[in-house]
Amino acid sequence: MKRLFMFAMTAALACGVAYAQQPIVIKFSHVVAENTPKGKAALKFKELAEKMTGGKVKVEVYPNSQLYKDQEEVEALQIGAVQMLAPSLAKFGPLGAKEFEVFDLPYLFDSAADLHKVTQGPVGQSMLKKLESRGIIGLAYWDNGFKVMSANKPLKMPADFKGLKMRIQSSKVLEQQMRDLGAIPQVMAFSEVYQALQTGVVNGTENPPSNLYTQKMYEVQKNVTVSDHGVIEYAVIVNKKFWEGLPAGIRTSLEAAMKEATDYANDIAKQENVDALELVRKSGKSEIYVLTADEKRAWKKALIGVQREQGARIGKETLDAIYKATGFDPNKL
Ligand code: LMR
Repeated sequence: MKRLFMFAMTAALACGVAYAQQPIVIKFSHVVAENTPKGKAALKFKELAEKMTGGKVKVEVYPNSQLYKDQEEVEALQIGAVQMLAPSLAKFGPLGAKEFEVFDLPYLFDSAADLHKVTQGPVGQSMLKKLESRGIIGLAYWDNGFKVMSANKPLKMPADFKGLKMRIQSSKVLEQQMRDLGAIPQVMAFSEVYQALQTGVVNGTENPPSNLYTQKMYEVQKNVTVSDHGVIEYAVIVNKKFWEGLPAGIRTSLEAAMKEATDYANDIAKQENVDALELVRKSGKSEIYVLTADEKRAWKKALIGVQREQGARIGKETLDAIYKATGFDPNKL
């Protein structure tokens, strides 16, 4: 009897030890390459999170749509198949969080500094809070950068877009943006863009240089226009149930790791895009054109209705809060 009791105790202890040694796994899925601002920041978070929790947490990063494509990944997070994502803000619209669509409005932000006044201020934080009713917690905003336009013809004036099929993310704002430029918008998952450009399913696209370069889109796009017409910005999000179920000490360490990874992400993003554009230039495969002040004025004029009409749909309150935070005057568009 005594021996049996000792055996049971030993087995229970062994199980307990094994259980205690099992790390908590965070699956972090994203759609871009590892050598992009988001790809590097995800790996930085992994390194910091594992160090700061003393190995109690293991972060598995799955880049390049390896696990899930754009829309699928948000669903996977909601059902708990993955725990962490960093989708571009355009991808929150289909979730019903339409406030995030403001970030797609063309020519709303003049600089990364203006964008930070929103993302790092109360307006951005209160937008993240709104995700909670959807089972999601927003932890941070990560930068990518300003988008360039690309096609197989020079895009200097709005008239150059006439009839072009342009790939966009799933966003009503981007849809109107392309229509108002005279193009035909085509919603498509990020992982499918290269092939669609190569086979002519679409004629052009928009993305920051870091994505254009790392997905090799420049190999199948002869012309790239630096237009600074919009941004790609990310929100790092976690499954609410998972996050709130973590032991408090672990969560605090992960929050500290996220803060450091966020500083890193937002420090490297601008230079990463400068470097990527330079690599595209050096490849000799695409010609890079920078809009003149007059051309940019013509683009702004063509796109003026997007801010007005989509802004009204998204919500005047959100847009006004952004104008207030950045000091942007819509009458000067
Ligand atoms: C896109 O789909 O074009 C981008 O949002 C991809 C990304 O995550 O940067």
